[in-house]
Amino acid sequence: MLKIGIIGAGNIAKTFIEAVVKGNINVTLEAIASRDILKAIEYKNLYLFKKAYGSYQELYNDTEVDLIYVATPHSFHYEQMLEIIDHNKHIICEKPFTINSSQAEEVFKRAKEKNLFVMEALWTRFLPTIIELREHIHGGIIGEIIKVEANFCFKTDLDRNHRLRNPKLGGGALLDLGIYTITFANLFLGKPESIESKVIKDEETGVDIDEEIVFKYKDNKSAILRSSIIKDLPSVGMIYGEKGYVVVNSFHQTQSAIIYDNNGRIIKSIEHHHKVNGFEFEILSAIDSIEKGRLEDYHIKHLETLNIIKQMDDIRKSWDLIYPQE
Ligand SMILES: NC(=O)c1ccc[n+]([C@@H]2O[C@H](COP(=O)([O-])OP(=O)(O)OC[C@H]3O[C@@H](n4cnc5c(N)ncnc54)[C@H](OP(=O)(O)O)[C@@H]3O)[C@@H](O)[C@H]2O)c1
Repeated sequence: MLKIGIIGAGNIAKTFIEAVVKGNINVTLEAIASRDILKAIEYKNLYLFKKAYGSYQELYNDTEVDLIYVATPHSFHYEQMLEIIDHNKHIICEKPFTINSSQAEEVFKRAKEKNLFVMEALWTRFLPTIIELREHIHGGIIGEIIKVEANFCFKTDLDRNHRLRNPKLGGGALLDLGIYTITFANLFLGKPESIESKVIKDEETGVDIDEEIVFKYKDNKSAILRSSIIKDLPSVGMIYGEKGYVVVNSFHQTQSAIIYDNNGRIIKSIEHHHKVNGFEFEILSAIDSIEKGRLEDYHIKHLETLNIIKQMDDIRKSWDLIYPQE
C-alpha cells in the first residue's frame, strides 16, 4: 500500500485528506509536515497519520514515505518538488504546478531522470462529468465547437499579505482561478493560436485581480475567459457548437452538465456526484498510475500542464507581471 506524506497543513491539505479518509482510499497516511509542529500534531491526531513533523525536511528524509502531496502556495512548489525528487519520492502537486513553464520543464525533466511519477492536481480534469462530457463532444453531440466561455470570479476582501494578493506567493487571479478557465478552453478547443486580454492590477501589490482573456483559434473559433478576485460572477462554463450548446455550472468542481440543441431542448443530462468532495478522483487516478509504473497520469499529461503554464506565461508577459522569484 502506498505511503503518503503531506507538506503544508492548510485548507487544501484538509480537503485532500478528507477525500482519502472518507473515500476509504487504500493508502497509508504516513506523515504530515508543517512548519509548526503543533499544527502537524493537530492534523496527525485528527486524521490518524502515523507521524507528525515540524519541518518539511524531516518528511523528505522519511524513507518510509513513497509519495508526497505538495499543499503549499505555488511560489514554493518548484524548490519543494526538486527536493522531493532528490529524495526519490513520487509527487502530487497542487495547481498551479509551478509559477512558470521553465520551472515546470525542469521538474518534469528531473523526475523522469529518477523514474518518478509527478502530477499536477488539477482536479477538474479528473471529474467524471468532465470526462463524459468530453466523450459526447468528441462524438459530435453538438457538432463542431464554435465558442467556449468560462468565468471563475469571486469578490474577496483580503489583506495584502494573503497569498492571492502577494506577489512573493505567486498571487493573482490568473494562476489561482484563471488556470481553471484556461484548462476548460484547452479541454474543448485545444491550444489557442493567439491570445488577447485586458487586466486590472492590484494598486498596492501589482498582481492581477481581474481579467478578461480571449483565445483565438482558426476558423474564427474563440474562447472568452474571465477570472477575478474583486467581483462575483456565476462560475459557469458554456460550450457552443453548431448543433447545440452545453451549460456546466460550477464548472471547475462540476457534478453535472446539460447538453441542449439549438432550440433549447435538453439532448442529454450528465450527472456524477462526488463520493466525498471531488478530490477522490484525482487521488485514485494518481495511485493507479503509480501502481502501474507510469511516470505521468493519463488525465493530465506533463505536456498538458506545460501547455497551460506556457499560456499563462504569455498572458503575464503581456501584462508585465513578473514574480520576484523569476
Ligand atoms: N485544488 C483546489 O481546489 C485548490 C483550492 C485552493 C488552493 N489550491 C492550491 O493549493 C495550494 C495551497 O493553497 P492554500 O489555499 O491551501 O494556501 P495556504 O492556506 O495559504 O497555505 C497552505 C499551507 O502552505 C504553508 N504555507 C503558507 N504560507 C507559507 C509561507 N509564506 N511560507 C511557507 N509555507 C507556507 C502552510 O503550511 P504549514 O504552516 O503547515 O507549513 C499553509 O498551511 C496553492 O497552490 C493553491 O493554488 C487548490
